[in-house]
Amino acid sequence: MHSPEELRLRVETYLNELELTSELGQLREAVHYSLLGGGKRIRPVLALATAEALEVNVDHMLAAACSIELVHTFSLVHDDLPALDDDDLRRGQPSCHAKYGEAVAILAGDALLAEALRLALLYGTPEVARELTDASLGMIGGQYIDITSEVQLDSDGLVELHRLKTGKLLAAPIGCALAVAGVTPNEQRPWRTFAAELGLLFQIVDDVLDATGTAEQLGKTPGKDEAAGKVTYVTLHGIDRARQLADDARSRIEKELAGIPADTSSLYEIVATIRERRT
Ligand code: IPE
Ligand code: IPE
Ligand code: MG
Ligand code: MG
Ligand code: MG
Repeated sequence: MHSPEELRLRVETYLNELELTSELGQLREAVHYSLLGGGKRIRPVLALATAEALEVNVDHMLAAACSIELVHTFSLVHDDLPALDDDDLRRGQPSCHAKYGEAVAILAGDALLAEALRLALLYGTPEVARELTDASLGMIGGQYIDITSEVQLDSDGLVELHRLKTGKLLAAPIGCALAVAGVTPNEQRPWRTFAAELGLLFQIVDDVLDATGTAEQLGKTPGKDEAAGKVTYVTLHGIDRARQLADDARSRIEKELAGIPADTSSLYEIVATIRERRT
């Protein structure tokens, strides 16, 4: 069993050594820029920790784990575009479109998505790629709600938005690990419940940080949600209640983990990091 930090280093090495398809030509520079310029790597680390709990070797899980990080990076590159959040700062550096222009950023995002699928298809089962594509489609549906919802979302609407926008890519690491490990649908249930709660916790914390963090600390522009008039956990409930909701989500997640008959110690640590993160 490796610590989350050891797993993160494995992810960094794999991403650094990843050979992008040569037919992308010079576009590879913008793809590398977005992929290798920081990022907490929470999703691939979750995938590796889940795999280890399921007794799958880290080496065997790295491609699937990193395929999720590629889709996540694609989502960020497109999220920052002028047509979406119009953000010039990402992971502490100019966002992809700010550095390379809008057209290149659109293509870099496209390339990241297709490269991710290439990695997910390296497995002997189509289930890994299925988990990845389902999660990608859910995230895209969530982004659509986010940019088009003209009526102010209520509390249920917000939960549904985050179930898709953030939740799908945070649940995908568990889904991909279950697929690689070949866990039967019946045995998957407690893992799926655990996975489904993670996105909510992650996004409540993201909303609180958007309202309270600095650009230096977050590596992205704070205050974007309020400036864009978005409904968030903070605008809907206030900071203190939002923090309480995050603590409640953490308790539910820890309870789910306690019911899983496997060594989930690294996963506990990752959940704590998601709640307590300041970046
Ligand atoms: C940011 O995700 C986007 C959201 C879903 C809120 P992360 O906070 O995981 O971003 P990186 O990968 O560390 O940059
Ligand atoms: C974007 O949510 C999540 C995805 C890219 C799917 P946000 O717009 O809140 O993410 P940040 O705050 O820019 O990282
Ligand atoms: Mg957005
Ligand atoms: Mg954004
Ligand atoms: Mg945000």
